[in-house]
Amino acid sequence: MLNTNCTTGVEIREASIFDAEQIASLGTQTYIESHGTFFKNQEDLLDYCKQTFSKNRIREELNSRENIFFVALVNNKMIAYAKVKLNASSTYIQSDNIAQLDKIYVLKDFLSMKIGLLLFDVLLKKIQSYKVKVLWLVVYHENKRAINFYLKNEFINIAEYYNFYGKEAYKVLLLKKDIKAL
Ligand SMILES: CC(C)(COP(=O)(O)OP(=O)(O)OC[C@H]1O[C@@H](n2cnc3c(N)ncnc32)[C@H](O)[C@@H]1OP(=O)(O)O)[C@@H](O)C(=O)NCCC(=O)NCCS
Repeated sequence: MLNTNCTTGVEIREASIFDAEQIASLGTQTYIESHGTFFKNQEDLLDYCKQTFSKNRIREELNSRENIFFVALVNNKMIAYAKVKLNASSTYIQSDNIAQLDKIYVLKDFLSMKIGLLLFDVLLKKIQSYKVKVLWLVVYHENKRAINFYLKNEFINIAEYYNFYGKEAYKVLLLKKDIKAL
């Protein structure tokens, strides 16, 4: 398991099954903080969180070899996490060895401390070791902060479409980044 101790006092490490409960609760909190106001219907938000961040689902995801999770800790408190799905093809991308950055979430109180960047750099090295050629992700079109972060990290916008949450459609962007070989 990779461990990175940074001078900033932030520890980044790969997650294990024992982190399931904390990731489930951090996932819910960070999603509500960052996406709560985007939802037109609060019930849809809660339904999404219940499904996506249930302890059992996170446990299953942590158990799968197709997923890579990293967590960031400050004074042993988990304050951010990221998840990549390996072998996640997309109809918009013609390449082999494609992965999806499925989640990257930092607690509100720890934003702007470059923790997202730290997590992303560690993830990047890990997926390079898996010879991933393209990394893609989906982001809500009004999530300007995250979009800026991705553009700064050399993602490009290749598609736009609508995703449904409950009965409401939300415009999302599909961004991709070519990953350099090690
Ligand atoms: C997206 C997210 C993970 C980015 O992490 P972050 O640590 O907050 O990163 P920031 O966007 O604040 O960027 C930190 C700083 O590094 C800069 N930066 C980011 N990448 C950089 C790069 N490759 N090179 C140089 N600077 C960079 C940013 O411009 C910013 O600088 P500033 O504070 O002077 O403006 C974080 O904003 C977040 O968790 N948002 C809420 C959840 C969310 O929306 N997740 C994505 C869902 S698709």
